[in-house]
Amino acid sequence: MGKDVIIALDFPSAAETFRFLDLFQDEKPFVKIGMELFYAEGPSIVREIKKRGHKIFLDLKLHDIPNTVKGGMQSLRNLGVDMTNVHAAGTIDMMKAAIEGLTRSDGTRPLLIAVTQLTSTSQERMEKEILIEKPLNEVVLQYAKNAHTAGLDGVVCSPLEAGMIHEGVGKDFVTVTPGIRFADDAKGDQVRVTTPAKAKEIGSDYIVVGRSITKAADPVAAYRRAVEEFVTV
Ligand code: C5P
Repeated sequence: MGKDVIIALDFPSAAETFRFLDLFQDEKPFVKIGMELFYAEGPSIVREIKKRGHKIFLDLKLHDIPNTVKGGMQSLRNLGVDMTNVHAAGTIDMMKAAIEGLTRSDGTRPLLIAVTQLTSTSQERMEKEILIEKPLNEVVLQYAKNAHTAGLDGVVCSPLEAGMIHEGVGKDFVTVTPGIRFADDAKGDQVRVTTPAKAKEIGSDYIVVGRSITKAADPVAAYRRAVEEFVTV
């Protein structure tokens, strides 16, 4: 699995997104388009960023009844994205329906991964608010196994869980890990975080980095630092 750094383009408009992407003259980072940008600009933003030569992870985290998720994926499958996702909490049937919807007539499809528990969720909140009383690690591993059973390619999880998932589900099962901060950054709303270097050590395949790059004084330098820590060293 090719290790890479994915930049989360959490911007409210195409104009701000392109101002940011224009900073990158020498490289074409793998980028993530999430709900903020997609809901503001629609599918055209995906096509425009693709045209500029970036790989795209479309992070819309679908979660609905299987038939609706299948239809949603049918609408997304010809956008040319490289990776997209659903919530594993939607059940194995929902994830199977997502694969069906995403598969093009020639049999190809983008990578499909499942969100386990969001990296902003803590053990305490999971117990008190959503009444899941098992240890968070056990919940994450079970969701990852469900995703594997449904035929998905991997999961979005905390970098702290990547090793456990590779061990429990398989080395080739892709782990995409947000919740990344440089050693000297603030955590913000994230709870289960670590540095790019530590994520590499634990075995993440892709790290997703948002604010630590987009809000940095020098985003290109911050991106290169993440690549250096996660891919190069
Ligand atoms: O700014 P920050 O690095 O915290 O951004 C992380 C990105 O990863 C956000 O776009 C967020 O939606 C996404 N993400 C996450 N946790 C997940 C799945 C996606 O933080 N479990």
